Amino acid sequence: MNAPVTAGPAAFRFDPSTTPVDANERAARLVDPGFGRVFTDHMAVVRYSEGKGWHDAAITARAPVTVDPSTAVLHYAQEIFEGLKAYCLDDGGMALFRPDANARRFNNSARRLAMPELPEELFLESCRQLVRTERDWFPAVDGGALYLRPFMFASEAFLGVKPSAEYLYMVIASSVGAYWKGGARAVSIWVSQNYTRAAPGGTGEAKCGGNYAASLAAQSEAIAQGCDQVVFLDAVERRWVEELGGMNVFFVFDDGSMVTPPLTGTILPGITRDSIIRIARDQGIVVREEPYGIDQWRADAASGRLTPIGQVVEAAGRFTIGSGGTGQTTQRMLDALTAIQRGRAADPHGWLERLG
Ligand SMILES: Cc1ncc(COP(=O)(O)O)c(C=O)c1O
Repeated sequence: MNAPVTAGPAAFRFDPSTTPVDANERAARLVDPGFGRVFTDHMAVVRYSEGKGWHDAAITARAPVTVDPSTAVLHYAQEIFEGLKAYCLDDGGMALFRPDANARRFNNSARRLAMPELPEELFLESCRQLVRTERDWFPAVDGGALYLRPFMFASEAFLGVKPSAEYLYMVIASSVGAYWKGGARAVSIWVSQNYTRAAPGGTGEAKCGGNYAASLAAQSEAIAQGCDQVVFLDAVERRWVEELGGMNVFFVFDDGSMVTPPLTGTILPGITRDSIIRIARDQGIVVREEPYGIDQWRADAASGRLTPIGQVVEAAGRFTIGSGGTGQTTQRMLDALTAIQRGRAADPHGWLERLG
């Protein structure tokens, strides 16, 4: 079947796995799934080639991808990805959280990496169908979810440096437990002096694998320093706080207001970031999207203006924010967001897409 696909449920051929994991083994794997280690039986695949466009959409058995050693992605890293979760709701249903926002960000990343855009409805349908196929893979543990990893890579076998003429788009699913085992806690953060994450004009706001490859040395430094995460400063002045290795950052002040760095092209426009801004504003909290300097951070922590979010470690020393624990505002935001994601609270922005 090689006809170009546009969108809609009918676009995906269904080739069920002939060797799915049996129910007992699946149950054993789901007891303590952790993050990114337990995978489901199927995956979504759509192919692209120049001239033909997107074609051959399928939900098929999860299997290794065989590529030629000259495949473009292996040499020039033309690859993008997304990450989103499907939740099991308290009423027994399933839902995706803001998948349309992930679809839009995916296409923004595609444009930056000179890749073809994927029709938004195809992205959404690939996620919906995979979740429906894998409904038995939701872990029953608290905070458990199906983590979806849509990604696209340059699959043309050619060593010339140019945008590939062929691409593979895939979605795999992983059963995951709560990101922070034992509940959310304050993180400790290493301020990277040797490395920056993104420069103006670079790929900072795209979700491409290369950004993460380039962040690993800094993240390793953070671990060596006994910290959970690295925080990057801007590449020009080495002063303005940008984001952590894998998440955006908010600063919460003693007057209840919040600051988060603005989206000027070098940080990833997080969907959690956008959701927190909107929830906070709904609750009457003042949120400012403005640059915040490491010098200001030190001073505010020392003066007690910042409410607790944890420890910040620099080459020159460390500072603790408040008592070093999770702050009240942070907890409030987390509770409000989780309640919407689990279908326990009103959803005024229509963020939850129920899958039945
Ligand atoms: C560098 C970086 N910033 C921010 C985020 C948060 O993005 P989102 O809230 O859309 O998950 C991520 C998520 O993986 C990330 O890798």
